Amino acid sequence: MRSLIAVLSGDGVGPEVCEQALRVLEKLGELYGHTFEVRRAAIGGEAIDAADDPLPAATVELCRDADAVLLGAVGHPRFDGQDLRPENGLLRLRSELELFVNLRPIRTHESLTDASPIRPEYLHGVDLMIVRELTGGLYYGERGRDADRAFDTCVYTRAEIARVVRIACQMAGERRQLVTSVDKANVLDTSRLWRETASTIAADEFPDITLEHGLVDSMAMHLVTRPADFDIIVTENMFGDILSDEAAVLVGSLGMLPSASLGIGQRGLYEPVHGSAPDIAGQGVANPYAAILSVAMLLRHSLGLQAEAAAVEAAVDAALHDGFLPRDLDSTGAIDTAIAGSAVLERLQATAVAGKA
Ligand code: IPM
Ligand code: MG
Repeated sequence: MRSLIAVLSGDGVGPEVCEQALRVLEKLGELYGHTFEVRRAAIGGEAIDAADDPLPAATVELCRDADAVLLGAVGHPRFDGQDLRPENGLLRLRSELELFVNLRPIRTHESLTDASPIRPEYLHGVDLMIVRELTGGLYYGERGRDADRAFDTCVYTRAEIARVVRIACQMAGERRQLVTSVDKANVLDTSRLWRETASTIAADEFPDITLEHGLVDSMAMHLVTRPADFDIIVTENMFGDILSDEAAVLVGSLGMLPSASLGIGQRGLYEPVHGSAPDIAGQGVANPYAAILSVAMLLRHSLGLQAEAAAVEAAVDAALHDGFLPRDLDSTGAIDTAIAGSAVLERLQATAVAGKA
């Protein structure tokens, strides 16, 4: 198979983690006989520096031509207080490509329980998927500010809610048949529409799925007190943004969470959930697993390469099992970005060789 992958490595640790993800992609190509043509473009702070635009037209064009987009991270505090912000490039790209749903899998690993501040008995068997609406709500509503007043508006249409809930219910069919829809329906009108729409979609189209509703404030608590009870959590843009960072605590670090942003068709944008981490950028110590696991999601959702995706995930699991824990997971260790990347490559190679033997 031949495919075009757009790589937007972006700011901070983005380039470092993308480099390891691309090593994995290249190795897979070698082992499984695929050609991944990689083309790069700028986004975020690096694009503001080069072109005064966090999302240059050439970047959008490349992404449209590509089968999938791999993104590192955007953001840097030196842009704080400015009108042109790196984050705006990512928000615009999601919208330009109509990537309206974001999948954030949260799976705990036995070898990482020490890295989480949550007691191990709560972490056992946690395997959930946050399905976040990605192109609506507060991040895209009308906004404004003057010196002493500012506003952001949250707007959702029934159609925007329905398409995300539908994806959540479809995924639930292949998992534990359980969807938890999260809102703030005791206060917000958008949340009441969200709840009503979710109930209708589930009842009319997915009679075998159990749909439960939760309020976002209590969900924030349940996520750490009984995380194993949930399977699919579907929610609006900002709640999903917040709950997914919280859920990272279950796994042990934000450095472990991959994500896939999808729309209509196969093309998707894949990025670690973590940010640009400017405090450790350039030191070669960032955790590359979220970026590598994002490659696994890319293989699965955009290229239809299920076995290859599973091989990458198994190689990461094996590397964790063998103790290759970057510093965000084990501050006493000396596993840097490239060592973790190499650990994954070696395990990929070993399983591919064993599979052919
Ligand atoms: C995320 C990030 C982004 C978001 C930022 C960088 C715009 O926090 O992907 O979770 O808010 O969506
Ligand atoms: Mg976030």
